[in-house]
Amino acid sequence: CGIVGYIGYNDSKEILLNGLEKLEYRGYDSAGIAELDHDHINVFKVKGRIAALRQRVDDTTVSTLGIGHTRWATHGKPSAENAHPHQSASGRFMLVHNGVIENYQELKKEYLDGIAFGSETDSEIIVQLIEKNAEKYRDTTKAFRQTISLLKGSYAIGLIDKQDRDTIYVAKNKSPLLIGLGDGFNVVTSDAMATLKETDQYLEIFDQEIVLVNRNFVNVQKLDGTAVHRSPYTAQIDLSDTEKGTYPHFMLKEIDEQPLVMRRIIQSYQDDFDRLKLAPEIRGAMKRCDRIYIIAAGTSYHAGLAGKQFLENMAGIPTEVHVASEFSYNMPLLSEHPLFVFISQSGETADSRSVLVKIKEMGHPALTITNVAGSTLSRESDFTLHLHAGPEIAVASTKAYTAQIAVLAILAVDTARAKEIRLDFDPLQELAIAANAIEVLTDQKETIEELVRSNLATTQNAFFIGRGSDYFVCLEGALKLKEISYIQAEGFAGGELKHGTIALIEEGTPVIALATQENVNYAIRSNVQEVVARGANDMIFSMRGLEQDSDAFVVPQVHELIAPLVSVVPMQLLAYYAALHRGCDVDKPRNLAKSVTVE
Ligand code: G6P
Repeated sequence: CGIVGYIGYNDSKEILLNGLEKLEYRGYDSAGIAELDHDHINVFKVKGRIAALRQRVDDTTVSTLGIGHTRWATHGKPSAENAHPHQSASGRFMLVHNGVIENYQELKKEYLDGIAFGSETDSEIIVQLIEKNAEKYRDTTKAFRQTISLLKGSYAIGLIDKQDRDTIYVAKNKSPLLIGLGDGFNVVTSDAMATLKETDQYLEIFDQEIVLVNRNFVNVQKLDGTAVHRSPYTAQIDLSDTEKGTYPHFMLKEIDEQPLVMRRIIQSYQDDFDRLKLAPEIRGAMKRCDRIYIIAAGTSYHAGLAGKQFLENMAGIPTEVHVASEFSYNMPLLSEHPLFVFISQSGETADSRSVLVKIKEMGHPALTITNVAGSTLSRESDFTLHLHAGPEIAVASTKAYTAQIAVLAILAVDTARAKEIRLDFDPLQELAIAANAIEVLTDQKETIEELVRSNLATTQNAFFIGRGSDYFVCLEGALKLKEISYIQAEGFAGGELKHGTIALIEEGTPVIALATQENVNYAIRSNVQEVVARGANDMIFSMRGLEQDSDAFVVPQVHELIAPLVSVVPMQLLAYYAALHRGCDVDKPRNLAKSVTVE
């Protein structure tokens, strides 16, 4: 979910709606805004997107104070009733919340017996409790503080009080939240990108802090009331990076940006003498550790699998890759000197963050590889490596994945050099070759679109098979396809299909096979024969040098180690065109959010 708030002298509506549009990547199943119009609160809520909310708002009202929310449902289905802002029983308070209140049932039972609730959400108990406490203490700040201190879980909260036209009450724990500072106005936002049009000056808010946001000042406090003084920072985001330009979809724009991102990474990690440029502390931590634990979710997890190969084969460090949401329940026996590497495009994924909190309590070092400087994971880790991919807006991740693989390769080679391991691999040179190869691929969109038209336009399911690092790309290829085209797709290790999944192969079932590695080229082609013999419709994506006449597509040759960087590009395009031809919403697939800030 994403929240936004405005207090100033202008009309809040447009600022809130613009902000919410930029926050839609955090969820888009329902949305709402509430604004204080003299002593009256106007509330507009819809099931669906911000575009629907725009239709719904009454633009004859004027207000200089408002809050808004775009939702990714956790408790309660997507509906106008469950959309935020939530109103207290008497209608005095309105609240937006991002996060999950773990003890909401206990709180409801203990304090809110007999109160009629208007929604099925955990969030509504907060606003009901604030009203109850406000009646008791006759002081909103005190009621707010008392209520917040009862909450267990994650929250970024914005509250307005009908009886106070000068304040937005804000609280934060575990969910991201920033205050944007302006001249005669201030904004509250989940992400600086959403309010960049208004200001580039932002104040970080830490966990368990509350903030009273006025038109002309911002008062940050700890939960016990102690004042907190903190300087703002300048958000370094180029607003044009967050626009689609002439592209029909962000996803296509971001696929096309990949060569540029590769070149930006090369530049950023190269010193004046063409050597790798990494912080000495990172190099030190890599040398000191005896095992690396990569923690990530979704696409970033798939990049982690490629990273494991680099770190083991080049840097000689045993590496495990863990799905963030499982790590705490299936915690491995840790080595004596572990180093945790968090891979996260957004740097905000709650599943990853909860592992970070845990391992920091245990006293272990952490390195975050992220696209968002200043994100929670970056701030709370000991070290950060940036992806330099520029804002990624489409929910399905593309350029962040290739950037993650590139940065992991650089990290592995830098460590190898620090450990005086001789390698026959110059990452900067090889990435430059990969950048050119991706450019060649992005020029072949029509070929991929044709493959989709003839093979994936109407299929119910599809399989991706590969061996070695091709297998990891298959996992990512399948994830892309299911995320945005809703085709039931799975990635498998080529040799594993015969142990069960081959039962699903029928006449015409699409099987996409990757063949970019010489040592598995023969074996994967045998696996393809096994499925073809059972009626599959095969499409082999091979690498130049390994190709055969019958292959569906051949990608340019790059160093085998970084083949995933290029072989994933046709997979991304397959997913894109499949979604397009099936009439799906490419950039905002159903049920998903780009940044999932709940566990
Ligand atoms: C969400 C997105 C995925 C993404 C995953 C991890 O589920 O829909 O596309 O891969 O989060 O995100 P992160 O920002 O941590 O890389």
